[in-house]
Amino acid sequence: MKKSMILFAGLLLPVMGWAAGGAIYPDDDISIDWSDKAAMQRGAQLFTNYCLSCHSAQYSRYNRVGKDLGISDDLMKENLIFTTNELGEQSKVGSLMTVTMNQEYGEKSFGTAPPDLSLVARSRGTHWLYNYLRGFYLDDARPFGVNNGVFPNVGMPHVLAELEGLKKAVKEEVEDSHGNKHEVITGFEQVSEGSMTPEQYDQAVKDLVAFLDYLAEPYKQTRKNVGTGVLIFLLVLLILAYLLKKEYWKDVH
Ligand code: HEC
Repeated sequence: MKKSMILFAGLLLPVMGWAAGGAIYPDDDISIDWSDKAAMQRGAQLFTNYCLSCHSAQYSRYNRVGKDLGISDDLMKENLIFTTNELGEQSKVGSLMTVTMNQEYGEKSFGTAPPDLSLVARSRGTHWLYNYLRGFYLDDARPFGVNNGVFPNVGMPHVLAELEGLKKAVKEEVEDSHGNKHEVITGFEQVSEGSMTPEQYDQAVKDLVAFLDYLAEPYKQTRKNVGTGVLIFLLVLLILAYLLKKEYWKDVH
């Protein structure tokens, strides 16, 4: 009895944490299509262009990503590798996706060092990431002039602003159940245009999140295929075993 109550409380905790976390804006759903390699390739390109300067993906190698997503070594070298080794030469396709910025410099510049993003799709989830990357808005009070509706007072600048343009937040004052008033974001207003339309930007972020999801679990696709294969094999075995049983017992009755 006691055990089951502890279990119940344990199951409830994440839900309560989520409820206490408060509202985030934006809060749109996303689903990742794991068979869409083209989307993940586009995401990889965005990642190496816009993120890998600060964040590493230190458990992945360029050529492994290339192999999984169908990008040749040559294309990889030409379009996706912008990092260099200690000698200043372009990183090899077999090297890890690390960055040269050190922890200390990162902390000094941004307040918090940019974390490694290898597993972020698992720790934060794809829903969170999709909204976080679409959640930057203008805020003069912040060091880089932007804040975020999903990660308030984040230390990261809006690195995709040239694509998305800049938005300002529309806020409303609400009263919570304790009678305290506070402001929540209820919408965004475009202030300046980027090179993409809002729909194109949403798609680009979706591609990027698909890539991050792949990065966090490169074996997901293989695992699913193996699972299906095993189930089909067991089914065939079941039919064969049944037929064999019928054959053996035919003369007994
Ligand atoms: C100029 C450096 C810089 C670039 C470029 C950059 N980031 Fe960041 N990012 C940061 C910093 C600094 C933080 C830590 C912010 C904090 O904790 O306040 C961060 C935090 C994050 C987080 C939150 C991690 C967590 O779980 O707390 C995610 C996700 C993220 N970045 C994704 C991206 C993506 C995707 C890109 C590319 C589009 C990108 N970043 C480009 C500096 C950068």
